[in-house]
Amino acid sequence: MKKLERTTGCGLVAEAFKGKKISLCGWVNKRRDHGGLIFVDLRDRSGVMQLVFNPEISNDAHKKAESLRSEFVVSVTGMVVDRSKENINPDMSTGALELKVDEVDILSSAETLPFILDEAEGVEEELRLRYRYLDLRRKGPREKLVMRNKIIFAMREFFMKEEFYEVETPILTKNTPEGSREFLVPSRIHHGYVYAMPQSPQLYKQLLMAAGFEKYFQVARCFRDEDLRADRQPEFTQLDVEMSFVDEEDIISVIEGLLHYTLKTACNVDVTVPFPRMLYKDAFGLYGSDKPDTRFDMTIKDFTSTFKNTELRFLQDTLKNDGKIGGFVLRDSGVTRAGIAKWENVAKGFGAKGLLWARVLEAGKLESPVSKFLPDNFIEQIEKIENKALSCGDIAFFIAGKYEKTWDQLGRLRLEVAKALNMIPKDKMNFLWVTEFPLFEYDENTKGWESVNHPFTSPQDGWENMDVSDIKSKSYDVILNGVELGGGSIRIHDADVQKKVFDLLGLDKKQMNERFGFLLEAQKYGFPPHGGIALGLDRVVMLLTGSESLREVVAFPKTQRGYDPMMNAPTHVDKELLKEYGLSLVKGKEKK
Ligand code: AMO
Repeated sequence: MKKLERTTGCGLVAEAFKGKKISLCGWVNKRRDHGGLIFVDLRDRSGVMQLVFNPEISNDAHKKAESLRSEFVVSVTGMVVDRSKENINPDMSTGALELKVDEVDILSSAETLPFILDEAEGVEEELRLRYRYLDLRRKGPREKLVMRNKIIFAMREFFMKEEFYEVETPILTKNTPEGSREFLVPSRIHHGYVYAMPQSPQLYKQLLMAAGFEKYFQVARCFRDEDLRADRQPEFTQLDVEMSFVDEEDIISVIEGLLHYTLKTACNVDVTVPFPRMLYKDAFGLYGSDKPDTRFDMTIKDFTSTFKNTELRFLQDTLKNDGKIGGFVLRDSGVTRAGIAKWENVAKGFGAKGLLWARVLEAGKLESPVSKFLPDNFIEQIEKIENKALSCGDIAFFIAGKYEKTWDQLGRLRLEVAKALNMIPKDKMNFLWVTEFPLFEYDENTKGWESVNHPFTSPQDGWENMDVSDIKSKSYDVILNGVELGGGSIRIHDADVQKKVFDLLGLDKKQMNERFGFLLEAQKYGFPPHGGIALGLDRVVMLLTGSESLREVVAFPKTQRGYDPMMNAPTHVDKELLKEYGLSLVKGKEKK
């Protein structure tokens, strides 16, 4: 093969090249045979350029062009000329020019692809993931990864300017039950022992503070063996940060600076800083969520008092059992009775026993399956709690039950209703800090206290004298449009506080030392006060590229079932190999 020549990218051929001989390389996007002339759209990552093969210019090149098919890889040389007027394509950056080819080399042929690239949108996702390298030849999917690259670059630039050090931390580490389930890696050298893959570099970054690094960041791969959703992958990337001698305000302000800089540099978007803040208890009270979508109103309110004298048995039971009645008002939306029935089913799907509703008709009349049992001044009471007048067509929805469960159901219903009725403005970017999460939550299964975040999170000042359920942590989550972008906290740096927290979590001395001995030890040798945060980088890119799922912004993602259809992973391995690891595996069901 002769030496490859390449003057520029296909999409970069411009007026300046007119009348010049240039060489291009790329894939055949399309070929059209017009009898004498053959037209080929040649594509590379920069765009598309039209080639024209004329037997009068080169019989040899024209002959080769007859054999070209979609996705062949070629290198061509020719003269850049104006297209004839009727062939100008204003939608293409190179649409006024074409390349009159006099030499063509076929670098690689291609069989018929498993799907047509231009029609890939309609193709089943698993097939696209099986051939992800073909899927990524498309402009849309590729541009998302290019944007990811820009975002990461801008972030690194920001941290360099702020004098942070990027430090890589191990992928083979120790099993530390600090949250989600971990992926385990059996050791060949130490039979019967396993490494764990990190859920996050949490402990390492704290130890880097012990090492005196003061300002650390890392674009860090993390691994969690948890149930997957659109915004969760088993392996994902965090933008991980830790700083010494700081409080909550310092971390919050660094992250606001980072997001402001990144959005401006990578996406040319100006976000207003500082971001609004909300206490966790208000976020949950108003939105039934720790990651409220504040782009639309329709907040949840406590309507327990409205029903205090109710004759409805199921509400009486709720009140007797210390339950609450929460609800929200959907403003006139033209929802039909059938529509309401649908929302009843959705609420039940979320675990609610039922969905009570009342619609305002003209002249203060009400329509509701339980209208007979509603108090006379029902509308007035709702208006008072809502702090807004009700009008014809408005529907109030209510769910009754224990506070946490009920508000969670209302929060999910609020989102579903808003999505279905197109109430969420697509162009808004609502950043929000949620702060002061509880430090512990009670686990009914283990009948003990668990950390809401991880056990190294610092309790609020004065916590020693508080009821365990009332203790808040020095923690903060950053939310964008109802998605948790990241979370962090000020850490415990005092060995006594750490021990007390482990005590409350029910860890005895032996367990403490086995699991976190290295941290307790580090706390003895001069441990600076420190805190940090981690942003889910895939989620940042997902939101900034308007993608529906993390899979769109990861080069080679796993399916919803943690399966890699391209590599066909996970796989069985030979018995011989297992022996080397001292393992025998139980054969499971067929995967997928
Ligand atoms: P946390 O567990 O909240 O905190 O994780 C931080 C952020 O990582 C992202 N994230 C995920 N993204 C994709 N797929 C997943 N499975 C997944 N799980 C989490 C989210 C989340 O907000 N060490 C602490 C941070 C700290 O305290 O500094 C931690 O990992 O965007």
